[in-house]
Amino acid sequence: MAEPLKVGLAGLGTVGTAVIELLERERDKLLARCARPIEVVAVTARSRGKKRAVDLRKVRWAADPLALAADPGIDVLVEVIGGAGDPAKSAVETALAAGKAVVTANKALLAAHGQKLATLAERRHAALNFEASVAGGIPIVKTLREGLNGNSFTRIYGILNGTCNYILSRMEEERLSFEDCLREAQRLGYAEADPSFDVEGHDAAQKLAILASLAFGTKVDQAAVYVEGIASITLADLDAAAELGYRVKLLGVALRTEAGIEQRVHPTMVRKDSAIAQVMGVTNAVTVDADGLSPITLVGPGAGGTATASAVVSDLADIARGVRTAPFGQPAARMTAVRKTPMQRHEGGYYIRLMARDRPGSAATIARRLAQRQISLESIVQRHESRGQDAGKSGDPVPVILITYATTEDAVHKALAAVRRDRVISGRPQVIRIEKN
Ligand SMILES: NC(=O)c1ccc[n+]([C@@H]2O[C@H](COP(=O)([O-])OP(=O)(O)OC[C@H]3O[C@@H](n4cnc5c(N)ncnc54)[C@H](OP(=O)(O)O)[C@@H]3O)[C@@H](O)[C@H]2O)c1
Repeated sequence: MAEPLKVGLAGLGTVGTAVIELLERERDKLLARCARPIEVVAVTARSRGKKRAVDLRKVRWAADPLALAADPGIDVLVEVIGGAGDPAKSAVETALAAGKAVVTANKALLAAHGQKLATLAERRHAALNFEASVAGGIPIVKTLREGLNGNSFTRIYGILNGTCNYILSRMEEERLSFEDCLREAQRLGYAEADPSFDVEGHDAAQKLAILASLAFGTKVDQAAVYVEGIASITLADLDAAAELGYRVKLLGVALRTEAGIEQRVHPTMVRKDSAIAQVMGVTNAVTVDADGLSPITLVGPGAGGTATASAVVSDLADIARGVRTAPFGQPAARMTAVRKTPMQRHEGGYYIRLMARDRPGSAATIARRLAQRQISLESIVQRHESRGQDAGKSGDPVPVILITYATTEDAVHKALAAVRRDRVISGRPQVIRIEKN
C-alpha cells in the first residue's frame, strides 16, 4: 500500500474532534479516492488532561502547536485552534517553512496574514488549504479557486454569518425584537456570550475578504471591508420589506466596479423571490456572478463540527492525492492591493423609513428634497396607523417608506439631511441598501 499521509492535528475542540471522527468513519472511501490512507499520527491542544470524545491512545501528544508543526513525523499540519495570533500563526508558519502542507479553518488568521502565508507556502512549494474558513461545509473556496477557473467574476455575495441570519429569520417568523432573538440565539449556542463580533458584521467581513481575494485577486485585507451590523434592524423594517417584496439579510458583497473592488458587509434588502432570500436560520449561502454563467448559489451549513470537518477532510484528500494550487488561485506576488471604497460613492437602490410629521406639506417637502438630488422613487408607502387615543391628531409622526431607484449614497444622505433640517420628520431615518438580485 502507498505511504499514508501523516497528519498532525493542532486543536481538539468542536472541529478537531469532528475531523478525527470523519477520517475514521470514511477511512475506506478516502483510501479508495486518494489511493493512500490519511492518518492522524500526532495531536495537541491546550489541556492534555481534558476528556475528549475521541480515542487518542494511538497518537502522539505534542507539547504544543509549535512542536507539532516542527515534528518531522508529520506531512501536514491541520490548524483548528483559531485566532489571528499565536500559537496558530507561528505553528502554520513553522509548518510551511519546513515545506509541510497546512490545512486551516482559521478565517481570522487568513484575514490578517493571508498574503504573507500564501507567499511562504508558494516559496516552499507547500499546500495551504482553507476551505473550512469560509461558510463551513459549503465548498465555496474550491468553487472560486478551481471550479470556475475559466471565468471572470463580477460579484460574489452571501450570507456568511449564521448567527445574524438566525436572528433576522426569527425576528420575521416569530415577530420578536432583535434583543429577544439575540438572547434566544445565545441560549441555543448559536451566538457567543459576547455577540458583537457576529452581530456587528466583523465575522462576515473576515470571510468576505477571503472570498474577494479568491475571486478578484486582491490581497486579503479585512480593513478594506466596509462593515455595518444588524442591531438597528427593527420589526417595522422587516414588515415594510415584506410588504414591498423584499427580505432583509446581512450580506457580504464583493463587487467589481470602475473604481475598484467594493467590499461591504451590511443589512441588505434582497428580492423575496431570489435564491438567497429563501435561506433562513443558521444556514449560509453564497451567490457567484461570473461572466458566461447565470448566477450560481451554493447553500449549506456554515458551521458545526461535522460540516466544518467535511471541508477540512476534503482539503486533506487533495493533499493526499498530490493536488496543489496557489492558495488564492494565483501567485501571491500578483495579488493587488485593495482600498476601502468610500460608501458615499456606492450606487444602488435604497429603502428609507422615516417618521413624517402628519401635517400638510410634509410629503411634498420630502419629495422635493429627494428630487433636488435626482433621486427617483420606485414606491412610496405612507401609513396612518391607529395610535390609540391620539389617533389622527395632526402633527403626530406617521411612518413613510420609500424605495428609490438607483442613486448614490451621497445623494441619499444629503437629501435626508435637508429633510431633517426642514423639521418635517422626527428621529433619524432608517436607510437600508437594496442589492439587485
Ligand atoms: N466551530 C465551528 O463551527 C467552526 C466553523 C468554521 C470554522 N471554524 C474555525 O475552526 C477553528 C477551531 O474552532 P473550534 O470551534 O473547533 O474551536 P474550539 O472548540 O474552541 O477548539 C479549539 C481547540 O484549540 C485548542 N487550543 C486553544 N488554545 C490553544 C493553545 N494555546 N495551544 C494549544 N491548543 C490550543 C483547544 O484546546 P482545549 O480543548 O484543551 O481547550 C481546543 O482543543 C477556529 O479557527 C474557528 O474559527 C469553526
